[in-house]
Amino acid sequence: MIQLSDRVKNICPSQTLAITSQVLKMRAEGKKIISFGAGEPDFDTPTNIREEAIKAIKSGFTHYTTDSGIPELKNAVIDKLKRDQGLSYHAKQILISNGAKHSLYNALMALCNPGDEVLLPTPCWVSYTEQIKLAQAKPVFIETKQENQFELTAELVQKSITDRTKILLLNTPNNPTGAVYNPEELKKIAEILVKKDIYCISDEIYEKLVYDDAEHVSIASFGPEIKEKVILINGMSKSYAMTGWRIGYTAGPEEIIFGMSKLQGHCTSNANSIAQKASVEGLEGNQDSIESMRTEFDRRRRFMVQALSQIKGFQCDMPKGAFYAFPNITQLFNSGLTLNKKEIKSSLELADFILSKAEVAVVPGVAFEAEGYLRLSYATSMPQIEEGMKRLEKLFQ
Ligand SMILES: Cc1ncc(COP(=O)(O)O)c(C=O)c1O
Repeated sequence: MIQLSDRVKNICPSQTLAITSQVLKMRAEGKKIISFGAGEPDFDTPTNIREEAIKAIKSGFTHYTTDSGIPELKNAVIDKLKRDQGLSYHAKQILISNGAKHSLYNALMALCNPGDEVLLPTPCWVSYTEQIKLAQAKPVFIETKQENQFELTAELVQKSITDRTKILLLNTPNNPTGAVYNPEELKKIAEILVKKDIYCISDEIYEKLVYDDAEHVSIASFGPEIKEKVILINGMSKSYAMTGWRIGYTAGPEEIIFGMSKLQGHCTSNANSIAQKASVEGLEGNQDSIESMRTEFDRRRRFMVQALSQIKGFQCDMPKGAFYAFPNITQLFNSGLTLNKKEIKSSLELADFILSKAEVAVVPGVAFEAEGYLRLSYATSMPQIEEGMKRLEKLFQ
């Protein structure tokens, strides 16, 4: 019998990736599935970025690079952090990795010892919990509430700290809730972290996708003391529609970056050389595509949230960031809906019900430590959103 490691036995497969494979399988069977499962922009990578990649291939830029990333890309990241966040870093404080997911894993593996506690506000992105467990640390969930727009407060952080707390893992703008944390509250959280000597891994991958009057502020920007505690993570996937290129980056204290680089050096070496060149163009070239994608996401956000709010049993607030709607669906539990003669009592059962009856794929809240909700991505075309909303309306009328 095959004996897998306890490490691997202890983690769950990604539920969002599982939904994507189920959708592909059903489509291959000829079903016309509308998918709101994907966490990626439906736009193509902007042409100027793709052209840089072609240039890199043609000029033979196809070898290993320095493990930690090419100097041009580190400089582009340094310029970007100065321009957008007012933060100053030098090259030894930057690490380029294979996607922000990889950056996060490197950071957790470089910082955690067995038994360390990592504070994790919920609802949270699917991979955090499993990555924390892989690093032999313990996720300590901090539940944020819908009535407070799923915002994290300094009070909630303070209450969750113990002698074992090592890291707070922040994600604003947030996947799945779309919450964008209030800068004043973030500042208070920063003060607690400095006082208690706790690190902050700040995942800012959705920073460019904020709407109305919401503003993204990095927790690292509240002064030199907190900056020394922050491992700031960002990447090319969401802002530049570059999910497949796999480029993420970290900025943080030199010693931590050095630790993460050592780890990366033995696991994956450098990120893809061609994608690194293309990312330089992404960060330094024309930025107009970001705004046109953001404007289109905003249009879809309004449409989807408005449509969901009219569906019986769905209660949906307007998210301020990222590209997800996160309706509360608790009213539909124990309301007489059944699938295979079984009454619907959970988000997972409701997601299965919707997929089998309306051929619409959504992600159950339980995947994000948030029973009672569904996540629907609006990073899909307007006609698909319109058709999906029609199907849901009909199903629940
Ligand atoms: C909150 C969050 N962080 C990180 C990532 C990973 O992004 P990347 O494609 O750069 O690995 C995602 C992707 O879905 C995400 O939603």
